[in-house]
Amino acid sequence: MSKSEINIPEHVAIIMDGNGRWANLQGKTRVTGHKAGVETVRSTVTTAAKLGVKALTLFAFSSENWRRPEKEVTVLMDLFMFVLTREVKRLHKNNIRFQVIGDLSRFSEKLQKNIHAAEQLTLQNSGMVLSIAANYGGRWDITYAARQLAEKVANDEITVADITESTLNDYTSLADLPELDLLIRTGGDLRISNFLLWQAAYAEFYFTDALWPDFNEQQFMKAIEVFDQRERRFGQTGEQVTKK
Ligand code: IPE
Ligand code: IPE
Ligand code: MG
Repeated sequence: MSKSEINIPEHVAIIMDGNGRWANLQGKTRVTGHKAGVETVRSTVTTAAKLGVKALTLFAFSSENWRRPEKEVTVLMDLFMFVLTREVKRLHKNNIRFQVIGDLSRFSEKLQKNIHAAEQLTLQNSGMVLSIAANYGGRWDITYAARQLAEKVANDEITVADITESTLNDYTSLADLPELDLLIRTGGDLRISNFLLWQAAYAEFYFTDALWPDFNEQQFMKAIEVFDQRERRFGQTGEQVTKK
């Protein structure tokens, strides 16, 4: 199937799961799995940009992942820092706008500084927006938005009646991007793990048993083909949406 024949989702998010199991299957350490996963991030970004996806959002570290053994958390942070330094120029060269979503306050100052620098460097880029979710949780996202609105009410900047789905949405992560169309999870588990709870309201879900380091361009294309076959009704009847 050629790319022009299919409907490419504007916004794709991926729960990149299965690095640890991939490594275990080969008798290697979990860290090896995370390193292999970085290569999949690279190829996935390239494929998405090539296809004309407007926004790609990747779940790299959840607010619950701090519960992992300290050693693994440290390795993940170091890896994040290393990849950020190594890849940012390439992203910039490819006109990609890079941003991190999540509660950054828990990261080291150095990592926060690097993230900020990468965001600033690529801010004006007009190509695909790559959002990395790090120390991200869907519940945190909604709570943080609610808190900002509450502050505005407390300061008499808005009234309670100004709190609507639309204004709350404005304060959630990714509000400036197209609505989430397709949410992919690798690794075989059928759950959302506190990812984009608010944003996934009408996203199509695609689950695959492929472990993240094995998720290649062909499998990404398969997910997009499945998405293309779905009928999105947004509450309407099938007849209503096919009539157009
Ligand atoms: C996903 O792979 C990467 C992160 C959560 C950082 P996992 O590390 O969760 O791999 P599995 O699920 O244990 O195989
Ligand atoms: C979800 O994977 C988070 C990321 C991919 C970053 P987890 O491996 O943390 O999810 P659970 O714990 O199996 O739900
Ligand atoms: Mg996992």
